[in-house]
Amino acid sequence: MQEVSKSNEGLALFLDRLFENEGAEGVVSSMSFLFGAFAVTVDGVVIGASDTFLNLVGYSRSELYGMSAVELVAPSARRKLEKRFSQDFIGHYELPLLTKESKIIHTLVRPRIFFSGGRKYRLAQFIDNTATLSLARSQLENFMNVSTALMHAFEYRDPYTQGHMSRVEKIAVKISRLLKLDEQSIGNISLGACLHDVGKISVPIEILTKPSRLEDHEWAFIKKHPEAGYKILTGTHFVKEIEDIVLLHHENQDGSGYPHGLKGEEIPLGAAIVSVADGLDAIAGTRPYRKASSFIEAIKIMEGEANKYRKEVLVAARQLVESGQLSGPEFGVMSSLI
Ligand SMILES: [Fe+2]
Ligand SMILES: [Fe+2]
Repeated sequence: MQEVSKSNEGLALFLDRLFENEGAEGVVSSMSFLFGAFAVTVDGVVIGASDTFLNLVGYSRSELYGMSAVELVAPSARRKLEKRFSQDFIGHYELPLLTKESKIIHTLVRPRIFFSGGRKYRLAQFIDNTATLSLARSQLENFMNVSTALMHAFEYRDPYTQGHMSRVEKIAVKISRLLKLDEQSIGNISLGACLHDVGKISVPIEILTKPSRLEDHEWAFIKKHPEAGYKILTGTHFVKEIEDIVLLHHENQDGSGYPHGLKGEEIPLGAAIVSVADGLDAIAGTRPYRKASSFIEAIKIMEGEANKYRKEVLVAARQLVESGQLSGPEFGVMSSLI
């Protein structure tokens, strides 16, 4: 059985004694002034709960006692909770509680484990996090809107790449979902993809829109855009994963990319995903209407240079293209031409 960490030993011992002397109800009445909403379980079955917890979930004490803790959690979070139980996880985590009325309440949980009479008990404190979460969501929404406005402002300046960043964003998110990444990583990849070419703002417009072949010194300008984008984001509150996407989306798995010539695992997964999404959209062409087959052609060309791309990302991209998920007006594909 996994040991309770040192910092929790004192509390665990205290709870153990309290439980031994006064049972679950003793724990409930002694701790409620400290913890507000909390519940005690033995092997995952509720045997004690404070009045505040009962109010939160809407059950009476007699209904609640004997229920499995897993039943009190939104179905989507049950497997994760069972895993936490099996690992005796004692860190803080977010947990959506399911009330008797089938309403979801977002809580922060602080669990403690203690042992009494050779059995394992859990004491969990629940903090209602619904208001904080909705504020965070609306802030994130505003943040996404500002980033999208920035992307549109950039695309307005350079009509040749119109829609490029938003298409790359959609492709990168679809690839991330196929790779079963968690929602937080997908959010970061979405924002990183949305802004990946923002550094092109530093490239003279004559170079960006030049219809003929670029000279070497002009290419040198273009190749500075990842670092320029990174500098634009530095000093803001973007997380590193997003900054890395902007800085490293032209790195190749075989080390032939820029700006640092990183290889393989040195390139974060988010940047590797945006690299594939970027390549797919760029190779398929930037004309406003194109056939779905242009994505098929693009993936074939990229597979011919497979050393440049992370294998599982390229495989996911082919799956996307073949399943027809890149058709529709948002990808500039006319369905009648498919
Ligand atoms: Fe780029
Ligand atoms: Fe790009």
